[in-house]
Amino acid sequence: MSLIENLEWRYATKKMNGAKVPQEKLDYILEAARLAPSSSGLQPYKIIVISDRVLLEKIKVIANNQSQITDCSHLLVFAAWDQYTRERVSKVFNYIMHERSLPPTAMSDYKESILNLYATEGKEWEAHHAAKQSYISFAMAIAAAAEQKVDATPMEGFDSTAMDELLQLKGCGYKSTVILPLGYRDEDEDWLLNMKKVRAPKPDFITEMTLADAVNLTDAR
Ligand SMILES: Cc1cc2nc3c(=O)[nH]c(=O)nc-3n(C[C@H](O)[C@H](O)[C@H](O)COP(=O)(O)O)c2cc1C
Repeated sequence: MSLIENLEWRYATKKMNGAKVPQEKLDYILEAARLAPSSSGLQPYKIIVISDRVLLEKIKVIANNQSQITDCSHLLVFAAWDQYTRERVSKVFNYIMHERSLPPTAMSDYKESILNLYATEGKEWEAHHAAKQSYISFAMAIAAAAEQKVDATPMEGFDSTAMDELLQLKGCGYKSTVILPLGYRDEDEDWLLNMKKVRAPKPDFITEMTLADAVNLTDAR
């Protein structure tokens, strides 16, 4: 199946059947998430994998009682840095230099430039920027799950403050951003299974633009 066929196959599964996702498929999905690109390669996020049924019951309560939380096989919780610190950024860059057998100072100028840039934006911007990076990884996980014929439900419908307290993220410098239950669709019970996939028509979604078009649009304003 092509990537497009896999993306057509997937849907935001509303009812899962409780079947377990094999470890090798889970590993594949997590590896796709790990390989996601991020701004400056900082990967300012991590993934927490939960299959503990008691913990999942607690999470369901703070996720609008959505049944996928407890009917899934594994729940992925994406958590992003709450801010960029010199220590965090240096640690990543030092690791990259080490892995590439380069001197630790090889990226010093670049590191200083991004630290200066981030410092002008403020802590709220930093948390938002890190959260955006986590969504790229999240999307890779969704696509990889579809390729593995594992169902996944992208979810923002949870109380992130309560999640951060429950998973002890608060105080560790992380904030939960988005969650992804992985499992298998309940073919008899899922009302969404046979619904048509609906997306914006291509002409509304895609705009080809030349310089002349851009100039005309600017003039028209
Ligand atoms: C960031 C994000 C948050 C979402 N939150 C939820 C959620 O909390 N619960 C849910 O059932 N679906 C959730 N969805 C699923 C969307 O409603 C669904 O992806 C969209 O309607 C497109 O349908 P499809 O994924 O079935 O193709 C979310 C999707 C995204 C991308």
